[in-house]
Amino acid sequence: MCIEDLRRMARRNVPGVFFEYMEAGSYSEATRDANVEDMRAIKLRQRVLVDMSHRSLKTTVLGEELSAPLAIAPTGLSGMQHADGEILACRAAHAAGIQYTLSTMSICSIEDVAEAVQKPFWFQLYVMRDRGFVADLIKRAEIAGCSALFLTVDLPVNGQRHVDMRNGLSVPPRLTARTVFDVLRRPAWAWRILNGKRRTFANVDGHLPGGPGFGGTTLAEWTHSQFDVTVSWKDVAWIRSIWPRKLVLKGILDPEDAREALKTGADGVVVSNHGGRQLDGAPSTIHALPKVADAIGGQKEVLIDSGIRTGQDIFRALALGANAAMIGRAALYGLGAGGQAGVARALDILRGELDTTMILTGIDDVRKIDHRAIASEPPGGYAARN
Ligand code: GLV
Repeated sequence: MCIEDLRRMARRNVPGVFFEYMEAGSYSEATRDANVEDMRAIKLRQRVLVDMSHRSLKTTVLGEELSAPLAIAPTGLSGMQHADGEILACRAAHAAGIQYTLSTMSICSIEDVAEAVQKPFWFQLYVMRDRGFVADLIKRAEIAGCSALFLTVDLPVNGQRHVDMRNGLSVPPRLTARTVFDVLRRPAWAWRILNGKRRTFANVDGHLPGGPGFGGTTLAEWTHSQFDVTVSWKDVAWIRSIWPRKLVLKGILDPEDAREALKTGADGVVVSNHGGRQLDGAPSTIHALPKVADAIGGQKEVLIDSGIRTGQDIFRALALGANAAMIGRAALYGLGAGGQAGVARALDILRGELDTTMILTGIDDVRKIDHRAIASEPPGGYAARN
């Protein structure tokens, strides 16, 4: 019925170590929780007696026509929520007429996904210490036909997620008594993973030091050794110079950074706090959105992620200045609940909720949703859209 139902199903299907990875926020998880709480606090204007028989949810994002202002955000380890998770989620997205973003930290490789789907998809990039490897990844994404590169800028260092440390999260999972017990209780998950051929970080494993499975280190230890605190705007310029297609900066929360982004040749930004997994204490994205959208002033596209769980949330995001919303956990819940059909269901639920919200607010075209649809002053104040 709703995304929360898919979440409950995913929790039953997916081993705890991976479900908990997906759910985690960094440190106290205050920002993770604020993403959802602040969203719900925003009230919408109900309008009545408007003929709503003709409605359009279609929009254009990064030059691509989408059936709704929605895309799947990049999420690491999707292929551990369900075997071949990245391929299945990408297929579900394309079948629904929206876009999919493959994470650098995926289980299925760029080439694997490209071979399994019919249309270009988007690729998310981390800047790691080995810039030669980064250039390689960019080339691979170009050859695979990816139509946009989402450069994540909010992870020069890993925000600690306590639960992953306690679980000793690694891929494939370490065979402790707890993980073995955990997996044995999910035989369908285990059967599919064991029968599939993808069980490591296919984009990076074997390309960077550590060897297969990163030599048995935990994900947190490996990330710490590979990610880079020196990353700066110069790297954005460098990446812009070698990537020929659409470029989006993911992880912009502050208007000053948004103004800086305007000086780059990037085509858009994602207002993101990484699902509340990086700076604990950062504002919720719906709180940050109006000011960032104001700073961008319609010159580039503005997307948002972190905290989108309903079609009403997508509506709120559009009303406060986003061109489209991205879902991370909501899609992963679908994946864990039922593979491709589960992701398709998640997308269907969100689309239906958005459509109903449009009818009840008297707006017949998603491109017409703006701040006038909001009943209460949002935490970050209003922003004129475009
Ligand atoms: C990766 O991007 C993560 O948030 O775990």
